[in-house]
Amino acid sequence: MRAWMSLGAAAILVLVCLRPAHADADGAKDWKAKCQACHGPDGKGKTKQGEKMGIGDITTKEWQATFTDAKITETIEKGLNRKSKDGKVQKMTALKGKLTPEQIKALIAHLRKLAK
Ligand code: HEC
Repeated sequence: MRAWMSLGAAAILVLVCLRPAHADADGAKDWKAKCQACHGPDGKGKTKQGEKMGIGDITTKEWQATFTDAKITETIEKGLNRKSKDGKVQKMTALKGKLTPEQIKALIAHLRKLAK
């Protein structure tokens, strides 16, 4: 009887810990939800949408060196609307107000992890 009760207590504890309460600054989760449809789960841009827009690979050393945290933050907040060299429309939704500064920071940390 006692064993069952402590098992029950343990199960409740696990459930409480797994609640999504602290998940709001999870870069991997936000990347999946808001970025990977275009940039791909691995950041290489090899998605249908990525091909159509001519999205480059953001995991290369050069890319990571060129794009500072400030520049990435700016892109996420303001979005993009431009043409690539081969005339493809490159559009990225501005997410200012949709993501907290903590979420953006977590996204950048995730993006750095995608690098080679
Ligand atoms: C609707 C498709 C789309 C979505 C969704 C999207 N992006 Fe982009 N993103 C683009 C395109 C297109 C480019 C330009 C790619 C290039 O030039 O190689 C781009 C470029 C970027 C750049 C480089 C900025 C620049 O000037 O080239 C960063 C950083 C970036 N995206 C981050 C993100 C993050 C983080 C998310 C999720 C919050 C995201 N993107 C979601 C389409 C998208």
